[in-house]
Amino acid sequence: MSHEHILDVRNVSLSFGGTNALLDVSFGVRRGEIRAIIGPNGAGKTSMLNCISGFYRPQKGEIQFKETSLVQTPPHKIAGLGIARTFQNIALYTGLSTLNNLMAARHIHMKQTALDSAIYWGRAQKEEVQHREFVEEIIDFLEIAHIRKATVGALPYGLRKRVELGRALALEPELLLLDEPMAGMNVEEKEDMARFILDIYERRGVTIVLIEHDMGLVMDISDRVVVLDFGRKIGDGTPDEIKNDERVIQAYLGQA
Ligand SMILES: Nc1ncnc2c1ncn2[C@@H]1O[C@H](COP(=O)(O)OP(=O)(O)OP(=O)(O)O)[C@@H](O)[C@H]1O
Ligand SMILES: [Mg+2]
Repeated sequence: MSHEHILDVRNVSLSFGGTNALLDVSFGVRRGEIRAIIGPNGAGKTSMLNCISGFYRPQKGEIQFKETSLVQTPPHKIAGLGIARTFQNIALYTGLSTLNNLMAARHIHMKQTALDSAIYWGRAQKEEVQHREFVEEIIDFLEIAHIRKATVGALPYGLRKRVELGRALALEPELLLLDEPMAGMNVEEKEDMARFILDIYERRGVTIVLIEHDMGLVMDISDRVVVLDFGRKIGDGTPDEIKNDERVIQAYLGQA
């Protein structure tokens, strides 16, 4: 694996019955970059993210995160490695408040077992306070303090997307996978989300893999772009290279 890569996807293939969701896809993600994945509907973008997060297991290929092979790692262990994601269809505890959704994610980092907590109650209390402070900082950062006590299921869509980003950040990821974080948002909400993503990347140094259909935004904020079409990689390069790539224009940008 190249030293500069935090994530290496090599020759990954995934099929469902007769459908090739991914066919021999390879790309690297450098530490500290925003790496976009674009392409038409059904191109395999979400499938790629699902392979990285362990949700799907590719039939062929290798995915390496730092020194660890992700295709060998059980899904529940992948978050513990420092990989967090958001979903194309928001996945939150709709009956819980914003604050409690973030705290629930945070508890993955709790080292205390239930028994330990009972015995060393004082220490558990202190940890709880630290988690709470961490979560409150994310809430301030994402400007969602006004909805911290609100039930998530009742929030408007744009705000739920923001809470979901907060939940992913509560895991303190090194690598953040975002599946269409701006879909269905109005222009102002999209601009806010783009600002948060840039802040996460610039100030927190988190590496980001971003799936997004809004080409203006993608080309603006990403360092490099992978283009998928019918499960195959048809382009890979800087936004300027991708914008001028004949094959990419024909398959996707021409209609986007
Ligand atoms: N669980 C599944 N079972 C069967 N087929 C699937 C499954 N998941 C994905 N596919 C198929 O794999 C292909 C790629 O789908 P995927 O969701 O990865 O596309 P996408 O690029 O994310 O599209 P979109 O832009 O619409 O979100 C599609 O043909 C889809 O129908
Ligand atoms: Mg998708």
